Amino acid sequence: MANVNRLRDFVIEATHLVEKHRDNESALLAEAKPLLAGLIASDDWLPEDYAVADPLRYRQYLLHADPLERLSVVSFVWGPGQRTPVHDHRVWGLVGVLRGAELSTGFSRASDGRLVPGQEDRIESGDVVAVSPTIGDIHSIANALPDAPSISIHVYGGNIGAVRRASFDPQTGEERLFISGYSNERLPNLWDRSRENG
Ligand SMILES: [Fe+2]
Repeated sequence: MANVNRLRDFVIEATHLVEKHRDNESALLAEAKPLLAGLIASDDWLPEDYAVADPLRYRQYLLHADPLERLSVVSFVWGPGQRTPVHDHRVWGLVGVLRGAELSTGFSRASDGRLVPGQEDRIESGDVVAVSPTIGDIHSIANALPDAPSISIHVYGGNIGAVRRASFDPQTGEERLFISGYSNERLPNLWDRSRENG
């Protein structure tokens, strides 16, 4: 059975950080990064329902949303060969690889409007990378494994599935607005403390 209390403890600590650093994104990211690294250092807590790949498209399962929508935690599950379009977030975000490996490419905008890719980084399980409008918000992510799923845990400074944001044609820089939603209708129960309190 999944050790879901790790996720609950993470949610509690991340909520404290959002409250503590509400006007200081860099301080928030500096503390949230090692917190997420601690969560993904163990792979015994993600319930199976939120680790299922889809043959056609990557999945994004909401694991937790802050009631004030300051924070969301999402499990991204990538089948072999699956990747995001080039896209932005419009809030801060952290990506931590739980299982497998991913390829992350940041983009910057040239003076003629085109998007120029930076280097492609391979992020291994245990690694955490950050995005935000202040440090670079446009990227693409792909499963690095040709023959197995990869899973990353993402934390965002908002209810990311409800944020109106953009994907891009990297050749022209043209943006297309989208709202991602989530792949699941039910969330894991983090709050049954009967075993520890019984
Ligand atoms: Fe992203």
